[in-house]
Amino acid sequence: MDSKGDTERQAILRDKIIREKQRAKEESFLSRILSILKPEMSLCDIGCGTGHIIRELATNSENVFLVGLDISPAMLRVASDNVGNLLNVALLRGDGYELPFSDGALDIMIARLAEYSPQEVYRALRGEGCFIEYGLGPEADKEIFEFFPDRIEEDNFFIPKSPEEWRDEACRELRDAGFVVTGLEDYKRKDYYHNEEEVMDLIEMVPLVRDFDRKKDRKTVLELAEKHRVERGIGITWHYCIIEGRKPKEKG
Ligand SMILES: C[S@@+](CC[C@H](N)C(=O)[O-])C[C@H]1O[C@@H](n2cnc3c(N)ncnc32)[C@H](O)[C@@H]1O
Repeated sequence: MDSKGDTERQAILRDKIIREKQRAKEESFLSRILSILKPEMSLCDIGCGTGHIIRELATNSENVFLVGLDISPAMLRVASDNVGNLLNVALLRGDGYELPFSDGALDIMIARLAEYSPQEVYRALRGEGCFIEYGLGPEADKEIFEFFPDRIEEDNFFIPKSPEEWRDEACRELRDAGFVVTGLEDYKRKDYYHNEEEVMDLIEMVPLVRDFDRKKDRKTVLELAEKHRVERGIGITWHYCIIEGRKPKEKG
């Protein structure tokens, strides 16, 4: 495992933004997971980051076994504080491209804005097991794109490559791994940031902009803030999609 994943600074910013924007409580994602998560089932959150989703699941379901997996020791430290001593939760350092589970070990896998191999997810799920992914739609953070058009860190940001065919693109990878795609829905809203410091936290958290420097880039962020400020704050588009795939029943 060479990669260390997100840094300490990213972990702290992610923790702060998820709390402020209530991003762990997004009903569309949580309710989908909770609707299939039944007692005795096991679930792994790949790239669990700060552990907020795992905590929500643990407090809203009973008798389930939850694993939060992340490659970043810094994220896992924050996650450990967030999940406290929940007895049915394990945090594990591991790679989404090489999952540390035996074949068919888990009932449900989820991934929110995370890196993973669909083939590995398929392998580690039992027959009829379910995978729910939370990805981004093409309009996510478009206000930032508008002001930093040539400096977007595309490798860090899971923005679909093709704004026209992004739905097909999103399903193709899962189908290629063997999944039956059972649902795809996208949602859009604005998140409001109180001031330019908060917008800069967002940019740094991903990080969204190449070589971003709070001092040097402040002027551009102030222009962005000026243009997109309304009474509730600086509006930044949040566009996400939820894809659900099911592994077919095993034969024999
Ligand atoms: C964008 S964050 C999302 C975190 C969390 N799922 C959330 O929604 O807040 C991506 C996470 O994936 C982790 N990560 C990056 N590469 C990974 C890999 N190969 N395997 C597992 N986790 C990885 C990072 O450390 C980070 O915590």
